Amino acid sequence: MTDDFLQKIAELQKRLDGQLKNYPFPQQPEYLYDPLRYVLAGNAKRLRPVLLTLTGQAFGVDEDDLRHAALAVELLHNFTLVHDDIMDDDLLRHGQPTVQNKWDNATAILAGDGLFIEAHRSISRVRNNTQRVGAVFNDGALAVCVGQAYDKEYEENQTITLNDYLHMTEKKTGAMLSLCVEIPALLANQDDGVCSQLRKFGYDIGKGFQIQDDILEIFSDADEMGKSLGSDVIAQKQTALTLMARKMAQEQWSEFCQRSEGQPIDEKLTAMRTFFKDTGVYAETTAMAEEYFNNAVSDLVVIPDPGREELVAFTNFIKNRNY
Ligand code: IPE
Ligand code: IPE
Ligand code: MG
Ligand code: MG
Repeated sequence: MTDDFLQKIAELQKRLDGQLKNYPFPQQPEYLYDPLRYVLAGNAKRLRPVLLTLTGQAFGVDEDDLRHAALAVELLHNFTLVHDDIMDDDLLRHGQPTVQNKWDNATAILAGDGLFIEAHRSISRVRNNTQRVGAVFNDGALAVCVGQAYDKEYEENQTITLNDYLHMTEKKTGAMLSLCVEIPALLANQDDGVCSQLRKFGYDIGKGFQIQDDILEIFSDADEMGKSLGSDVIAQKQTALTLMARKMAQEQWSEFCQRSEGQPIDEKLTAMRTFFKDTGVYAETTAMAEEYFNNAVSDLVVIPDPGREELVAFTNFIKNRNY
């Protein structure tokens, strides 16, 4: 990856971040708008609007349409995070207390509603292919809800397989990343073949990204990630690592789970790290994430050069993230 490209990404992130931080919300009522300003003031990576912008540039999309769509996906993403943090009972997001932690659940529910509607207002401002873009946007948003529903249904369910997990992930994480490439394709009047190939790109990068996120949840630390870690373990969530452990070392894993029941969370996390490393679960799960990232790179054949090269570089940039 060249320094020029990294600089381009950093500039794009900064520009989009500035637009979100200065989003023209009214002052009143503070009950609604203070939390919205607060959410967008957090320390976020803005990966989705960057991906959308790079894809739109590759297809030569109108700049205004691209800006509205980029803001829409990041607003939608933040809506899902605010409600996800209520659902996961997490305390920290984007390096600051979650909305329900700083205020309360009622405030956070309304903040999520506000972000979701604002996302809609932004996407409905695009001028090309407006109806089709709106329909795809709604389908993607609903897919996230479907994925979140599976995520909750699967908690504590010991019969879930890696395939179930991957299906859930396609919805929960992939669908929104698909929007980031499919919407700019629609804005450039690309045909159904291109759009469905790009939807697959979103699913593949989404799976790579979520598997990697599950790994970071156990192997990174909250300061670096800027969000609460360990909630997966507390809620006994089905993650890529736990499902791989069940697949690769079923007996040892159930012994481990019995042994560590009731252990303080820090001790349990340390023991888990050792377990996953020693049994090869960590290596195998990392390899699985890598495979999905490689598939995502292959999906990009439908993007014209030189934009395609940039998107390949961006996919690798995400693959190599450590927060
Ligand atoms: C977090 O996504 C939600 C997942 C799908 C795992 P990001 O890591 O991209 O979120 P930001 O950058 O903190 O907003
Ligand atoms: C991310 O899911 C939220 C959505 C995809 C809507 P997680 O609950 O797994 O991610 P983090 O760890 O809170 O970011
Ligand atoms: Mg969560
Ligand atoms: Mg969640």
